[in-house]
Amino acid sequence: MKKKIALILSIIMIVCLFTGCGSKGTTLKSVEKAGKLVIATSPDFPPFESLNADGSVEGIEIDVLQIICDKLGVELQIEQMDFDSVLPGIQAGKFDMGVSGISVTEKRQKNVLFTEPYCLAAQAIVVTEGSPITCKADLDGKSVSVQTGTTAESFCMDNGYTVSSFSANSDAEAALTTGKVDAWVIDDLTAADMVKAYNAQGGDKLVILDEAMTSEPYAFALAFGSEDLVKEINGILESLTADGTIKAIFEKYDAPYTAPEA
Ligand code: ARG
Repeated sequence: MKKKIALILSIIMIVCLFTGCGSKGTTLKSVEKAGKLVIATSPDFPPFESLNADGSVEGIEIDVLQIICDKLGVELQIEQMDFDSVLPGIQAGKFDMGVSGISVTEKRQKNVLFTEPYCLAAQAIVVTEGSPITCKADLDGKSVSVQTGTTAESFCMDNGYTVSSFSANSDAEAALTTGKVDAWVIDDLTAADMVKAYNAQGGDKLVILDEAMTSEPYAFALAFGSEDLVKEINGILESLTADGTIKAIFEKYDAPYTAPEA
């Protein structure tokens, strides 16, 4: 009897070894079998992902993902959530890939797998016109708004600012425009997009300070166990970078493109 149980257990172990059962990663095979790639995104981050009036999501990363899915021969399925749910969802195996202007950090690399980065961004300071804050040094002892779970949040906390965190980027912006905080810290290209939209409404104006505070590569995040899919996607990203497709997508959204360092 004992022998039989041991035999069954070792068969299960061998099968798991080859099929990866129990691991939360998404394999190329599993994506092809499902016929779709399910991505997790927080669509409040133009020009990378934003929500249209009809509920659809558009942006640079959505365009890139559509091409990736076309090349893989699968459908793109978009799941919307707050930014701070994206990485935990990937880690838990709820979605195949996190696509949310995600900056690669050492801390995050302990929990998820990243593709190769496809661009470089930085944290920017946004203030109201006429603010006494004109550079990073002026932020000392000041209050700032950020989006929850972002690199802006950890950067500001590490720097000892008084941080107010908001699930939605628009609420972090509103904290500044309604005078609840002295500054808003957010990724540069999204700052440019959201400030442009705000200033176009007329009335008081927002200003982005000319000081890039960090250098952050953006990549897509997958669960550990997704190594072969990451490899496949890296190959696609490499060709899209080499043939100028990524740059052209940035241009379509009027966004300056900075290539990640090799
Ligand atoms: N790049 C920053 C980070 O990784 C902010 C990303 C916010 N993304 C979003 N879709 N709201 O933390």
